[in-house]
Amino acid sequence: MYTQLQQRDSDRPPVTLSTLSQMKQQGEKIACLTAYDASFAALLDASGVDLVLVGDSLGMVIQGHDTTVPVTMDHMVYHCAAVARGLSRPFLVADLPFMSYASPQLALSNSVRLMQEGGARMVKLESGQGQTETIAYLARHDIAVCAHLGLKPQSVHKTGGFRVQGREEQAARTMLESALALEAAGADLILLECIPASLGQRITEAVKVPVIGIGAGPSTDGQILVVYDMLGITLGRKPRFVRNFALETAVPQAAVERYVQAVKSGEYPAPEHCF
Ligand code: KIV
Repeated sequence: MYTQLQQRDSDRPPVTLSTLSQMKQQGEKIACLTAYDASFAALLDASGVDLVLVGDSLGMVIQGHDTTVPVTMDHMVYHCAAVARGLSRPFLVADLPFMSYASPQLALSNSVRLMQEGGARMVKLESGQGQTETIAYLARHDIAVCAHLGLKPQSVHKTGGFRVQGREEQAARTMLESALALEAAGADLILLECIPASLGQRITEAVKVPVIGIGAGPSTDGQILVVYDMLGITLGRKPRFVRNFALETAVPQAAVERYVQAVKSGEYPAPEHCF
């Protein structure tokens, strides 16, 4: 059960925001994975994962859609509550799905659902400078927020597909400015998806809050992957940044432990996983 009060005195204290920022300061890499149910959550917890994300990627890997756009708040709350029941140590983050944060007030009421009904400790929203006001509003209400920059899967119909972002210098500079503006607005964590490794490094060095990368190179403070991708379960073509840890061992917990070790040691991501 995800009950921080019970865990406080144990030898596996729960990961908090202060733990994550201490890890950044001390240069200890943060190992993160997605989960969508209690069994996987318990397996990730037992394997030493620091942060678990209930991603709206569940629209693709659980529901079989082509994008994350069909995912609703009810879907997110259902899966988040299931994951929370399987966790004790990792920090639990949940995605605000498509259009659930179209105004600051809507973002707040939906964050409250993810926290009260789903047990999330933090909410994540796909961001740009357009979300500065929303992030400031959530921060003013003491909601812990992760700003997701780079490839934003909820916007693929507008941006033209799942593509690497920030390749040109102007786009890279805009992303760096957005990261700084969102941090100043109150973002506690930044997630960078599918950007050049050099830009991942620039942003990680520029902001004080921890930065988690997926396809953002080796310099971010932590790494995240969709759990089904790193276990080789997802069908079809995999993004370049995915490493299949199940090729090394058929035992799921051993594969996740190997992932945690590879992230912590800096062995993953290797140059072949970077842009
Ligand atoms: O929805 C998700 O799983 C995510 C990860 C890809 C970071 O946002």
